Amino acid sequence: MSFYSEKVVSHFKEPKNVGFMEDADGIGEIGDPSCGDFMRVFIRVRDNTIADVKYQIRGCPASIAVASVMTELAIGKDLDDALMLTDDDVVKALDGLPEEKLHCSVLGITGLRKAIQDHFMRYIGDVKPQEDQNG
Ligand code: FES
Repeated sequence: MSFYSEKVVSHFKEPKNVGFMEDADGIGEIGDPSCGDFMRVFIRVRDNTIADVKYQIRGCPASIAVASVMTELAIGKDLDDALMLTDDDVVKALDGLPEEKLHCSVLGITGLRKAIQDHFMRYIGDVKPQEDQNG
């Protein structure tokens, strides 16, 4: 049986960037039906860069630590680099997760990717077709 790293415990006890975001530029929602955990991720995008990330979560200690460290990894990255983040990056940033808790790492990055995807969909919706722009 393995235990949580000090980093996991620290992020669980004092989660970073937790909360709701008004007027988010993208929102991603992800749940794990096997355990019932759920997370909603909000992103603020400025100049193609993730300026801020917030989240609301109902989940296990590992998933809360995952969400918290995901925000630290994502803030300040441009959208392409943020999309390159992996579950493995999250696990490494937490100095590991117990084997039986590795699946919890999926929530953080998937929620972030869905929020970025939502941002892209909103942006595409705002871009007018070429012939409309030329009048
Ligand atoms: Fe469900 Fe951790 S037990 S995400």
